[in-house]
Amino acid sequence: MANIVVVGGQWGDEGKGKVVDFLTSRFNIVVRYSGGPNAGHTVRRGEKKFALHHVPSGILTEGVLCVIGNGTVIDPASLVAELRALESQGVSIKGRLAISSRAHVILPAHVRREKELEEARGDGRLGTTMKGVGPSYESKAARTGVRMVDLLDPQTLRRALRLAVPEPEVESNAAALEEFSASLREYVTDTSRLLAEKMEDGTRVLFEGAQGSLLDVDHGTYPFVTSSSSIAGGACTGAGVSPTRIDGVLGVYKAYATRVGAGPFPSEDRGDKGEKLRARGNEYGTTTGRPRRCGWFDVVLARYSVRVNGIDSAAMTLLDVLDGFDEIPVCTAYRYKGDRIRQFPMEPWVLEAVEPEFTMMKGWRSDTKDCRSFEDLPHQAQEYIRSIEDAIECDIDMISVGPEPERSATREVSKLATWLAEEA
Ligand code: GDP
Ligand code: IMO
Ligand code: MG
Repeated sequence: MANIVVVGGQWGDEGKGKVVDFLTSRFNIVVRYSGGPNAGHTVRRGEKKFALHHVPSGILTEGVLCVIGNGTVIDPASLVAELRALESQGVSIKGRLAISSRAHVILPAHVRREKELEEARGDGRLGTTMKGVGPSYESKAARTGVRMVDLLDPQTLRRALRLAVPEPEVESNAAALEEFSASLREYVTDTSRLLAEKMEDGTRVLFEGAQGSLLDVDHGTYPFVTSSSSIAGGACTGAGVSPTRIDGVLGVYKAYATRVGAGPFPSEDRGDKGEKLRARGNEYGTTTGRPRRCGWFDVVLARYSVRVNGIDSAAMTLLDVLDGFDEIPVCTAYRYKGDRIRQFPMEPWVLEAVEPEFTMMKGWRSDTKDCRSFEDLPHQAQEYIRSIEDAIECDIDMISVGPEPERSATREVSKLATWLAEEA
């Protein structure tokens, strides 16, 4: 049995949902371990389009159990709406979802607080998704949070709310939460125990990361980050699973780079070519609809995320978006005060000031969307992938050339193939 973590290697929106959907048929359980409704994972199946926020993308594959782990934060109203939307699209949820009793709840007060905090930052605002995610994690760390388990007992819920919201709001919050908990309580359970028991029996588990490595609260571009542990290590704390149970980490990288919200982005292209990336890649947020900032593949950053996650196999997504370019810049180093930097800098003032150094790669100017193997790809696209593999010191074992699961190619002799093999 191989249990793997699928993690975003850049600033989120790398196509994790598509990759997880493609891989899910080989697994029995898919677990989300961090983040909440700030995530937006889009999965396309033919004409159908699904937008997942709390629920793992594994839900689209029948027979797969989906777990929302303790490391996530849940907005009960929005989770109930998400489940209804999935059901109306023909997805069955009953008996296929488990929600950690230890996951924290996002309250209306958290959304209000986020608005105040962002306004107080003025020009330095983070550009968050405004879903109350940060303040909910803040309450968790302050030990004043409300957990999913609290929704199961009226007195406990009110006791927890007294610490979390002003007294006059306790009863209205409790009543609203109880309304949603009526539809959610059947799913709330000790998911860490569930996973331990299932894994003991040889069940194969895929951990679906949310956000990206550079948005991780510890290892990202702080303070322009989210408030949870989005790196692969977060799978252990966020699902309550031992590191000894995890066999590998698949890093998902866009063939270029995007970022939503504020913060440093050394390889950003604010010109026409960046605009062209946005148009070709349809780079608008799944959760907020905001235009994503676009730029080029950044080797310095990718090498960093390979290291902090221990990525031993990579997937490159949205390669088809580059089909329309004569030349493709790749950021291979940074320049700072005359020095060349190859290690991702830890000082924010350095990261903000670095100039990207680009190597120009030849484009291929032909359609890749029907390529189903590495060998099918145009020669220059193969070169593009090989040079990035060399630079980031990690094999690219999967290539995605379109949003649908069939628009994918995996390398037959690869770490990923070994993980997916029946006998693994
Ligand atoms: P996630 O948050 O990492 O799951 O990524 P998002 O779903 O937010 O953003 C990725 C977008 O790219 C979605 O709209 C996907 O449907 C789409 N997508 C994924 N892989 C590919 C691909 O290989 N080619 C193209 N053209 N689109 C893709
Ligand atoms: P998926 O899972 C891209 C960004 C926000 C903002 C910062 C903090 O779809 O890859 P938050 O609301 O989390 O406090 O916002 O993080 N952000 C994401 N960007 N994809 C995501 O998720 C994101 N989740 C949060 O834009 O810059
Ligand atoms: Mg997304």
